[in-house]
Amino acid sequence: MKPAKYPPINPRVPHMLHGADYNPEQWQRYPEILAEDIRLMKLAKCNVMSVGIFSWVSLEPKEGEFTFEWLDHVLDSFAQNGIYALMATPSGARPAWMSAKYPEVLRVNERRVRNLHGFRHNHCYTSPVYREKIRLMNTKLAERYAHHPAVIGWHISNEYGGDCHCDYCQAAFRAWLQQEYETLEELNHAWWTGFWSHTYTDWEQIESPAPHGETQVHGMNLDWRRFVTHQTADFMKHEIAPLKEKKPDLPVTTNFMEFFEGLNYWKFADFLDVVSWDSYPTWHDQGQDDRKQAGKIAMMHDIVRSLKGGQPWMLMESTPSLTNWQPVSKLKRPGMHLLSSLQAVAHGSDTVQYFQWRKSRGSSEKWHGAVVDHTGHEHTRVFADVTEVGESLMKLNEVVGTTVPAEAAIIFDWENRWAVNDSQGPRNMGIKYEETVQSHYFALWQQGVPIDVIDMEQDFAPYKLLIAPMLYMVRPGVGERIQAFVENGGTFVATYWSGLVDEHDLAFLGGFPGPLRRTLGIWAEEIDGLHDHDRNEIRPIEGNVLGLKQSYEAAELCELIHLEGAEALAVYGCDFYKDRPALTVHHLGQGKAYYIASRNSEAFQQDFYQQLVAQTGVRKALAAVLPEGVHAALRTDGTRDYIFVMNFIDKQQQMRLDESRYTELLSGEKVYRELYLKPYEVKVLKLSGK
Ligand code: GLA
Ligand code: ZN
Repeated sequence: MKPAKYPPINPRVPHMLHGADYNPEQWQRYPEILAEDIRLMKLAKCNVMSVGIFSWVSLEPKEGEFTFEWLDHVLDSFAQNGIYALMATPSGARPAWMSAKYPEVLRVNERRVRNLHGFRHNHCYTSPVYREKIRLMNTKLAERYAHHPAVIGWHISNEYGGDCHCDYCQAAFRAWLQQEYETLEELNHAWWTGFWSHTYTDWEQIESPAPHGETQVHGMNLDWRRFVTHQTADFMKHEIAPLKEKKPDLPVTTNFMEFFEGLNYWKFADFLDVVSWDSYPTWHDQGQDDRKQAGKIAMMHDIVRSLKGGQPWMLMESTPSLTNWQPVSKLKRPGMHLLSSLQAVAHGSDTVQYFQWRKSRGSSEKWHGAVVDHTGHEHTRVFADVTEVGESLMKLNEVVGTTVPAEAAIIFDWENRWAVNDSQGPRNMGIKYEETVQSHYFALWQQGVPIDVIDMEQDFAPYKLLIAPMLYMVRPGVGERIQAFVENGGTFVATYWSGLVDEHDLAFLGGFPGPLRRTLGIWAEEIDGLHDHDRNEIRPIEGNVLGLKQSYEAAELCELIHLEGAEALAVYGCDFYKDRPALTVHHLGQGKAYYIASRNSEAFQQDFYQQLVAQTGVRKALAAVLPEGVHAALRTDGTRDYIFVMNFIDKQQQMRLDESRYTELLSGEKVYRELYLKPYEVKVLKLSGK
């Protein structure tokens, strides 16, 4: 059983955390700024700052010469003023002296060209020198700060990502492959290298994928991505070791990125005490209707929460106003800052943090939103927005540690994603794995259903409803676990383009959907890739158990399936496969397994999941009808429920609640049956008398 409530991220701080990346090393020639910043931090109700993220050269200006005094001063001043710090390790960017003296620390790109010094997030994660330099630095940081009264956790590096193709990395790749496969014969089979005479006869012949070399061996592409994840996580572990040596209970985190494809974040979670991510939505890019954007961000929040089994997480970065690297830097409309900040809390974050505290004067982020603008004082709209978040979080301290009681889960699996996107299959102009998972997620999220977003390795037993859109790859044991889930009474949903390959991206022989075939009770014979202008439709069969009545548009992908125990609920409306099954259900043991054979319209998704939510009885955040654009999310400690009601459209909304005993925590007011929401307003309801 998962706990319903966790201790705070650092038990010393039983509050919601509110703060920002703080880069005082950029302001060393402005000594008056630290005291002014601290005054402003208190005003904005900020209680935590992430420091040292890119400070390497300020901490080690010459090789072996360390200058921690300025950082001592910052941290001591924080401690005196009740501000906490997340202490970062500086590996995200390195000093020029290091690149000059040890070129091996510079990353080599896929064309085998070594970078010049510059930019950031571009070290070789295998280089013995880089590893030694960061071990030394982290050891010193730990010795000096692990027990500092201001320090409540470690921020490891920054947004790990990318790959390196240097000789060290090639050797490490080969060693990793040897461990995985033991013999070349095994590797050649797994990679299907008999194709185009690609068989390897010596380990030394293996080179990482390259645009001017190998790209067509899908098994290798997949393994390269696995290796990059492995090697990056290994580098992270190497960074963490000296920190844990000094104070094992000081929590460590690293900041993840939105739907970042390059690293399988599930392989990092075990080594972190808490997961965090950096959220930069493009609010207001669809006019004043932010539902799509909100749904996408909600899903990422849910991934991050699910990475550590539902434990509260950290919103490590978000912008207080605009994001200057996006194509258009639109300001958040009034209300949006609080709404988007509390949306993270609603999905399980115990923090709201920003990039960054004070706007840089120069370089590429001088126009990126920050809490303190170049103008320097607190009389700005953004500062007021930030202060409002700070004040709101102070009213939500009782929410700290509470969890999201999800009874539905969606599988979004990184390795599956890599394989699908590389598959050269029925629709190379847009196979759309990510969008497809999101569209299934949206249909539940719109109904206010708490959802975990997991990979296929997780335990399915806690859920009543399990959805696996486009589960192209099925790794060993997964088919059996899904079957057991259904037999034990679960409801499972699969779609077209599922059960096609194993963990090496080798097609299953003997009929698709491979290991899911028995559970789904169908055989998928062929799949039709449709052009953008092509349409089909699916027609519900009269009296179908889902009560579907209208026809729905189908596009892009239509699979031709045969019933093998399943029952058809809808059939195709046109083309040569007219009247063949398009939607099926299979009863197995105590449960049911649905198969959606075509990519259908949003209207289908809505109707289908409305029925499934009703039939499975999965928990909703709120048993009330939500108006268009209003979303509800739930946190609970097992006894007390906190319901976040969020209006994502620029329109006043009104709804009728299921209960008349709610208290709204931000205003402290009682709410009777009617709930009014201003444009972009968020309310937090707690049931009184409970
Ligand atoms: C990323 C980085 C930050 C900063 C922000 C700007 O998330 O981690 O250092 O560059 O982007 O949005
Ligand atoms: Zn390298």
